[in-house]
Amino acid sequence: MIGTTEGSSFLASDVPAILKFTRQVYYIDNLQVGRIRPGEVLFYDLNGDEVQLPLTEITWDTAAAEKDGYEHFMLKEIHEQPRAVRDTLNSLIRDGAVDLSGAGLTDDILRSIRRIDMVACGSAWHVSVAAQYVIEDLAGLPVRVELASEYRYRRIPSSPDTLVIVISQSGETADSLAALRVAKERGALTLAVVNVIGSTIAREADHTLYTLAGPEIAVATTKAYSAQLIAMDALAVRLALVRGAITEEKCAELITALQAIPDQISRVLEEKQRLQWFSSKIVNTHDIFFIGRGLDYAISLEGSLKMKEISYIHSEAYAAGELKHGTISLIEHNTLVIGVLTQGSLFEKTLSNMLECKSRGAYLMGLTTNGNFSVEDSVNFTVYVPKTDEHFIASVAIVPLQLLGYYTSVNRGLDVDKPRNLAKSVTVE
Ligand code: M6R
Repeated sequence: MIGTTEGSSFLASDVPAILKFTRQVYYIDNLQVGRIRPGEVLFYDLNGDEVQLPLTEITWDTAAAEKDGYEHFMLKEIHEQPRAVRDTLNSLIRDGAVDLSGAGLTDDILRSIRRIDMVACGSAWHVSVAAQYVIEDLAGLPVRVELASEYRYRRIPSSPDTLVIVISQSGETADSLAALRVAKERGALTLAVVNVIGSTIAREADHTLYTLAGPEIAVATTKAYSAQLIAMDALAVRLALVRGAITEEKCAELITALQAIPDQISRVLEEKQRLQWFSSKIVNTHDIFFIGRGLDYAISLEGSLKMKEISYIHSEAYAAGELKHGTISLIEHNTLVIGVLTQGSLFEKTLSNMLECKSRGAYLMGLTTNGNFSVEDSVNFTVYVPKTDEHFIASVAIVPLQLLGYYTSVNRGLDVDKPRNLAKSVTVE
């Protein structure tokens, strides 16, 4: 995209990069050329004929691109999550019902889908993994989740009754964009769940659902992840209702649970000092394993990425039941194992996998919901989060893990917002 202001022009792959200079931007398309001079941009097609592109006014608040008194953008964005989740949810709920008409998703379309493929990278892929459990469980619809970098080179048969959902904060991630194009070529119906308005993925998908996280500056995503998660939960609820998998009463109950999430996130944020203290204990740890089953595995994936990308501590997320098939040999004296235990039916199973690690010397942290106090008999440190409908717990349970990654990075004296080797928008393959 290209931005202009009086006397200057800017070329960037993403809006936040230039937000403090200008809000007037042009989105240049494929096979177009922009000629940039200070304060003036002209566009041409490949024949050299001038073309007129619309000037887009970015409505994001410029204050959103300032730290606003926080030490780092990441900490500010973690604290913006109640607002980001509430705004996104409010944009999808009308008169007490999930309404996806803004994305052009009618109930007829939702009823006609036979399969959902979700395609994304990094944290957006972790949202997809979480959403897979929620959609399958609530709506009874088969869902597959693919890394965009893999999907684009596979020959997965699709048809118009396959809905391919591409999730991306930036809307510019090269692999996700390529996957979207491949899905369209294969005849699938496509939905983009995107944060940056007017981005390429948003423009090219058949349907676009915008998350309202606002500009995200820190390389490690937090509020955009949470906004994507709530959008996918709302989609799951609507799918479940129109396909007859849940009653109107159940639907109302689920929507009430979704609407309570912003306040529950605020409550978790009030407990941040405990995470700050615990991070000072683990600051010299070499390896951290995050384990869980079902949705707790999806939460573990994101918790592990948050830790490793900004603290540079080696970390892996594992489906708890899979450890014994090889990885448990890495557990030694004082290896930190963080068990995510929010799913009632899987609690005992995961706890027993944690104890298998403890008996091999691991130091245990448990992350569970209020009331599960028995966990303290087994683990060294416990973090509690408010209870919600178990389908939606990722929105609440991820927050302590974001804080843990953040404080560990700070305690190690690292560049939290710009970790080494990483870019905010990954526009290369
Ligand atoms: O802009 P996107 O959501 O498509 O970006 C996807 C990943 O590059 C991104 O989530 C990345 O994994 C972040 N560094 C995670 O914090």
